[in-house]
Amino acid sequence: MPSVYLETYGCQMNVADSELMLGKLAAAGYSHTQNPEGADVILVNTCAVRDNAEQRVLGRLGELRRHMHRDTVLGVTGCMAQRLGSRILDANSRVSLVVGPDAYRALPELIDGARRGERFTATDFDLEEHYDDFQARRFEGVKAWIPVQRGCDYRCTYCIVPYTRGSERSRAMADVVRETREVVEQGLTEVVLLGQTVNSWNDGSGDFGDLLRAVGAVEGIRRVRYTSPHPNDFTDSVIAAMAEVETVCEHVHLPMQSGSSAMLKRMLRRYTRDGYLDCVARMRSAIPDLSITTDIIVGFPGETDAEFAETLSLVRAVGFDDAFTFKFSPREGTPATRLPAELTVPEEVVDARYEELLALVRAIARSRNMARLGQRREVLVEKAARKGGDLLQARSRDFRTVMVPAEAAAIGDYLTVELTGTTGSTFTGTPVVERAHLPLAN
Ligand code: 5AD
Ligand code: SF4
Repeated sequence: MPSVYLETYGCQMNVADSELMLGKLAAAGYSHTQNPEGADVILVNTCAVRDNAEQRVLGRLGELRRHMHRDTVLGVTGCMAQRLGSRILDANSRVSLVVGPDAYRALPELIDGARRGERFTATDFDLEEHYDDFQARRFEGVKAWIPVQRGCDYRCTYCIVPYTRGSERSRAMADVVRETREVVEQGLTEVVLLGQTVNSWNDGSGDFGDLLRAVGAVEGIRRVRYTSPHPNDFTDSVIAAMAEVETVCEHVHLPMQSGSSAMLKRMLRRYTRDGYLDCVARMRSAIPDLSITTDIIVGFPGETDAEFAETLSLVRAVGFDDAFTFKFSPREGTPATRLPAELTVPEEVVDARYEELLALVRAIARSRNMARLGQRREVLVEKAARKGGDLLQARSRDFRTVMVPAEAAAIGDYLTVELTGTTGSTFTGTPVVERAHLPLAN
């Protein structure tokens, strides 16, 4: 049996795509190996969203050559494959496959050709493609990534994704529900619905609120999450579904990008500072104790001190539970690269703003977490903690990471804990024996 080794970079959509690719290849007779050494096929599923993500992959391709034997097929898949196409083949003589996100169906045949010594670039978009008939090979122990939408129809001026993943299309509700039932049968109890602007999902029969209701009602599902939504697609009906469906968790990852309306306009985000705040207010009033996380870019062209100060003040005004912060990275072919060169923010200014933002984000997260000490949470045990063999890593519905003692539970268990300690970002939890479960005295 030929073996395949696969490495994944980038977002959860890429993780889900990797699971689909490995499922397809398993059906075509490949065994999966966790070790690149001696693998017959090595695939690197890549991200193009920032230059540093691409540089890491290029470095890694060089390293992987050391593990390859003469006949090993090396393939690059994902967003970088789509973005650079045959340029990857030209630059790296050991790569024989370049396959974009809509072309994974052909992987077995492409690999066969590559094993005969041919080289291919497969980067056509396919607006019908959802890989519905693929059986994903899942690696997460307790939750399943379920793509419900592919591509993106927004055109944020910094973003490469519309060019690497093509136009937005929604997967049929019946297929999403069927896959949800399958993951329950496999013993998983949490699903994460994935899409580039996932709450704009609409398959012609309903909107994202309907999808949440349908998935949330599947028997055996205890937690439904989704990522990443766009603020403009939070209609009342989507927010109502989020509030009403008990299995939908009290957390939203709501990309903000900037706190300045002028900057948001240059980014073509299609909302203003007030619009963002309004979305937050509507969600918070419908969903008590909603936890909100976000993405923020610093150093987008033309960012003034005053505009950056507005980002800081919006971060304070919202009070995020956590945030991913990024330095703007110009992506070839995106509209932002056509802005006048004099708008480029000097590197030392970007670095200083980045540090200031990160410090603020951490301080706010810390104080919000401190305020939750002593509270109770239901947590789902996800995996062994990275450090500390006697701890397991669990997650609350509101997306807090909680370390629990290993003897208290097993992976996949739900338990109620009291939040007894925090590092500022993660918690330690002490299992609570619920009253009803206590043996009767005497
Ligand atoms: N430079 C920096 N950050 C970017 N993101 C997307 N494109 C860029 C870019 N060119 C960030 C956004 C997005 C997250 C996934 O990555 O914040 O929400
Ligand atoms: Fe990029 Fe905007 Fe699409 Fe998100 S919504 S993937 S930021 S273009």
